[in-house]
Amino acid sequence: MSRMIEILHEEHRNIARLLGVIERELDVFDRRERPDYEIFQAVIQYFKEYPELCHHPKEDVVYQILKERNPAVAGAVGDIEAEHVLEGERLGRFAQVVNDVLADQELPRQAFHAAATDFLEHQRRHMAKEEQLLFPAALETLTAEDWAKIDSRIEARKDPMFDGETAQKFQNLYATILRWEQETEEDRGRAAATR
Ligand SMILES: [Fe+2]
Repeated sequence: MSRMIEILHEEHRNIARLLGVIERELDVFDRRERPDYEIFQAVIQYFKEYPELCHHPKEDVVYQILKERNPAVAGAVGDIEAEHVLEGERLGRFAQVVNDVLADQELPRQAFHAAATDFLEHQRRHMAKEEQLLFPAALETLTAEDWAKIDSRIEARKDPMFDGETAQKFQNLYATILRWEQETEEDRGRAAATR
């Protein structure tokens, strides 16, 4: 498999972990308890700094080359670049409602729920589409030369959370993810033991 596709898959796994955090805090909100808005903010900050600036641009380049090689196949995948623009807008709306709550602005509960869910669900759908359509099409269509061209067009940037060295501002979020994953693992173990 192309190294690039491996990297994109790995980044999807990390994004999925963050979406899990949003989902979990949104459940807290839906139970009418207070979610951790700072965690929401950190997730949003991470999305702005890495998936938006580094993950999506990599996929855009893969998609552009696929379009050059085989427009029909790229057309069947759908407009990945346009979807990335929409994802950015959804992220912006989600960031706005979180900021509104933290600034004590009047905000209907439904508006908060809708902005968070809209972001969460579209991200998941979008990643599934890339994994089911874009990546297999690229693997099938692109040549070794194309992959080299993709590498040369991509600006390398370090993931500020999952690349071994977590930036100070994301340490709390990362610790939360690890703690939560461990708890989930333990719960599963207990459930299996009582079965
Ligand atoms: Fe993606």
